[in-house]
Amino acid sequence: MAIKRNKVVVVGAGAVGSAVAFNLVVQGICDDLVLIDINRDKAWAEATDLQHSLAYSNRNMNVRDGDYAACGDADIVVIAAALPFVKGQTRLDLTEKAAGIMRSIIGPVMQSGFQGIFIVITNPVDVMAYYVYKLSGLPARRVIGTGTALDSARLKYYIAAVMKVDPRSVQALCLGEHGDSQVIPWSLVTVGGKNFLDILEDNRDRLQGIAIDQIAHNTSYISYKVMNAKGATTFGIAATTVEIIKAVLNDENKVIPVSTMLQGEYGENGVYVGVPAVLNGDGVKELMECRLSQREMAEFKQSVALIKEYQAKLGE
Ligand code: 2OP
Repeated sequence: MAIKRNKVVVVGAGAVGSAVAFNLVVQGICDDLVLIDINRDKAWAEATDLQHSLAYSNRNMNVRDGDYAACGDADIVVIAAALPFVKGQTRLDLTEKAAGIMRSIIGPVMQSGFQGIFIVITNPVDVMAYYVYKLSGLPARRVIGTGTALDSARLKYYIAAVMKVDPRSVQALCLGEHGDSQVIPWSLVTVGGKNFLDILEDNRDRLQGIAIDQIAHNTSYISYKVMNAKGATTFGIAATTVEIIKAVLNDENKVIPVSTMLQGEYGENGVYVGVPAVLNGDGVKELMECRLSQREMAEFKQSVALIKEYQAKLGE
């Protein structure tokens, strides 16, 4: 009996899709990797360049460019197609155009017979993940948006930087929109097992005079600064996406804050939003319902309301 190979298809071979693909190759995460792009030459060039890294990578894998037929037997299809960044635009401003791109992609993917798991990166990611769920007809657990997983990594990094500890020793997450209305539930942040608010109370100097509002601002707005300077954010989102891919392909039951459908959790229904979820080979296994303070819950509800407003713009 042949050993089952796992296959990831990345749709969109621009800066983000290529960074995801490179991270998959460097970490040796899958057996087959296919890049698809509206510009076939670009997909070919990125795949070919990646092939040239294989002799120096830690395992062999099959990397190539392809068309939508390649999605038929894929375990995961990553939607990384994106619009160019325009200074002054928020992620939500991209809704209409991004929805058009989703319509052009999801139909052909589904026609290929795809029955795997979508991981959506395209912004506004909460709204687009919901749209991919609608367009594909797949169960909600099999359509995952990268959501606030990236913001959570940024938050861990900034807390770690001011405290001079390893970001992996920080337990923290962002909730809500992957965007300007995201929420940081400070009451849930711990460092090395100690509640962050207790750390501040016991020793204010631990933050070296930096206010937590500044950490929150950095977490939320640093992406605009990076995009202004290099046109896109790539490495953070690539690492984030690969973390989600690993959780699925290795059936890890790992808890990652992703954009997923609320079905009664947090008193909300029918909306894709960033919350911690248990991810395994079947996609989203279950959601964690965090206990939030009154203020955090109010902020979360505001963020959900904003996403719903844009979700409604997509129509039925
Ligand atoms: C990011 O936060 C642009 O959504 C992308 O890096």
